[in-house]
Amino acid sequence: MARDSLRRLAAEFKQFLTAQGEDEWIAAAAPRRAAATVCTPSDTTTPQGDTLTVEFQQKKTTREMDSPAPMAKTMSTAQKTKALQTLAETIRNCSRCPLGSTRIQAVPGEGNVDTEVMFVGEGPGFDEDRQGRPFVGRAGQLLDKMIVAMGLTREKVFIANIAKCHPMIDPLHPEKHGNDRAPNAQEIACCRKYIEQQIAIICPKYVIALGGVAAKSLISDAKSLGALRGQFYDLHLDSVTLPKPVQIIATFHPAALLRNPGWKKDAWTDLQMVMDQLGLKGARK
Ligand code: URA
Repeated sequence: MARDSLRRLAAEFKQFLTAQGEDEWIAAAAPRRAAATVCTPSDTTTPQGDTLTVEFQQKKTTREMDSPAPMAKTMSTAQKTKALQTLAETIRNCSRCPLGSTRIQAVPGEGNVDTEVMFVGEGPGFDEDRQGRPFVGRAGQLLDKMIVAMGLTREKVFIANIAKCHPMIDPLHPEKHGNDRAPNAQEIACCRKYIEQQIAIICPKYVIALGGVAAKSLISDAKSLGALRGQFYDLHLDSVTLPKPVQIIATFHPAALLRNPGWKKDAWTDLQMVMDQLGLKGARK
């Protein structure tokens, strides 16, 4: 590769890692990503009954792009479980960003490795930091209800976060309540490969991004959550090749729904779009 191209790539990468604000981060990341394609629900059906072609494979460099990516191979449930366990171990030992030294426990994520639906939140809070499990506090209780309303259970889906460690306003006092904050740009960038690898291993049909942080980061669009929600997008990942198409839809974060119960109706509309695609009838009354 020409020296100039290398220099430009290095500069882009540095800009990406050092970007301060979420919007700045997304702008820095934009040149490296394919634009999210907007799909209507009727466009989104993936071939049924196809062999699940999954191989955990690094995305090709620009230089390698001219030859087609090798066909991915099937990954069994056992292989997915093993790959996710190995990844979780890496996450538990991670100190790529300062959250690694202030967390009580990392929260890799949990659930059914063969699920069709994966929920992605923004990052662990107080309760999750203590238990090492995602969405186990008040927001988690509401998420559980949303999942059941869809006709699913927590055991049937996979739940993870963009950031794997608890972002705190005051990291010197992890015992404090009300100490949660959204992950910042560097924290999101450092953690990004983990959520990408989890999605590529599980390869669900649908990712449901909970809240603006997850939506903007995975849809790679700086628009507001209000502008992003209500439609499906093709999911494109930076670091890995998805073995088959995955659709993503954004909706409100359960914590936002606890603060604004009036938004629940719109969130339910978003969830129903996924239910329609999967033929889910919802919980019986
Ligand atoms: N909020 C999140 O975004 N994730 C959790 O795991 C808990 C609360």
